[in-house]
Amino acid sequence: MFIEKFEYIKTGLTFDDVLLIPSRTNVDPKDTHVSSSVSRHIKLKIPIVSSPMDTVTEDAMAIAMARMGGLGIVHRNLTVEEQVAIVRKVKKEESIIIRDLYTVSPDTPIKDAQKIILDKKITGLPVIMEGKLVGILTSRDIRFYKGENLAVKDLMTKEVVTGSENIKISEAIKILHDNRIEKLPIVDSQNRLVGLITASDIEKRETYPDATRDKEGRLKVGAAVGPFDISRAEMLEKSGVDLLVIDTAHAHNEKVMGGIKEIRKKLDIDIIAGNIATKESAEDIIALEVDGLRVGIGPGSICTTRIIAGAGMPQLEAISQAAEIAEKQQIPVIADGGIRYSGDIVKAIAAGANVVMLGSLLAGTDEAPGEELFIEGKKFKSYRGMGSLGAIQKGLSDRYGKIGSTKFVPEGVEAAIPYKGKVKDTILQLIGGVRSGMGYVGAKDIDSLRKNARFIRITQSGLIESHPHNVTIISDSPNYPVK
Ligand code: XMP
Repeated sequence: MFIEKFEYIKTGLTFDDVLLIPSRTNVDPKDTHVSSSVSRHIKLKIPIVSSPMDTVTEDAMAIAMARMGGLGIVHRNLTVEEQVAIVRKVKKEESIIIRDLYTVSPDTPIKDAQKIILDKKITGLPVIMEGKLVGILTSRDIRFYKGENLAVKDLMTKEVVTGSENIKISEAIKILHDNRIEKLPIVDSQNRLVGLITASDIEKRETYPDATRDKEGRLKVGAAVGPFDISRAEMLEKSGVDLLVIDTAHAHNEKVMGGIKEIRKKLDIDIIAGNIATKESAEDIIALEVDGLRVGIGPGSICTTRIIAGAGMPQLEAISQAAEIAEKQQIPVIADGGIRYSGDIVKAIAAGANVVMLGSLLAGTDEAPGEELFIEGKKFKSYRGMGSLGAIQKGLSDRYGKIGSTKFVPEGVEAAIPYKGKVKDTILQLIGGVRSGMGYVGAKDIDSLRKNARFIRITQSGLIESHPHNVTIISDSPNYPVK
């Protein structure tokens, strides 16, 4: 009974145990396609999402990730109201049709309208009478206003160029351009105002052609919820979130699975559930009708789960087990944790992942919410596990162990990561590395990397040979920092 446990024991491999075998190819790295899916209905232009951790993803990270074609998942170590406010901020950042509008009536005193324009930093106010659009007051109309006793109707532009509710973006651009206007009010068939399109929002859209956007042109964003927090999940759905990640340390737990089922029943948006690490768990979680699987138990840079609990699964083995099952049902696999270099992303995808989720690689960037720290004159940012004492004490005690009301059993540590500047530069390096890897193995897109790339197992000597060796590195490389 006990000896048997070791007789047929399987070896689980992870990033440093293998390399991808280079092969004959006609694929040029610059011609590779790196788009993928994070969930059944959400496609991304790059196979990277940011982790829902309180030192990784809030609004700035989510906006940057979506603009680059990835996705940010807002963490849940916040009140529902705070988390909803962050989601709303991302959704508002680049809306093509602004729907939450300030308006005035023709009789509003100009000085009141001017105050709205100045206080809210907007450049045009639609004028509404009996529910209908009758004019627009722009900063141009009040340029020469000197405080006289005038009403909006005295200065507003009365002949307003408008667009219809189902206007295409290309048509809106043409109307703005032909009429040399900055704002295009959108009205329904009865001339009731439904929104406003601005030239500056359209320009932003052109700046980020790869951005992950919803049907209305707003950036997409995901958010994490606990498995039993249905009201948070519902509030997030109402706030316009595009994807929910049911965030647990061990989703293959019957109580947690009950929670996932309940949330699935109530919500209509895509749901990713995790974390899991075996094929049995992939089967059981997919049966709950989720749209994606988050895979990884204990591989993260700040995780101590495997040390504290003695449980976990080497990450490439976990990914391949989940992917074997998920592939049959076309459910994307998110490889979460343990990724230190771009080469690890290539290996994670070759093992079966559709996208990777990053924590430590993003935590040192400007957009991460972690605190800036100076250690021996060098700049760092704080990065901590969501199961670290600090994170648990701030509120997140359901993901990892709590004993009694005040004692905790942390499964993560609090750390510091060298400061890295803009996240855009980190992502460019990572994607460059992924494309390079695809060139070596001859994969023109993510699907062929997943299906055709082959691994070779390496030894400790092979690993030593892989890293720079027998030299003294004298300067930092952007994708291989000196320790
Ligand atoms: P990396 O390696 O990218 O990993 O820094 C990020 C992932 O680690 C997981 N995570 C934790 N796992 N204890 C754990 O065992 C923790 O305190 C903890 N905090 C985060 C999480 O899946 C994240 O995406």
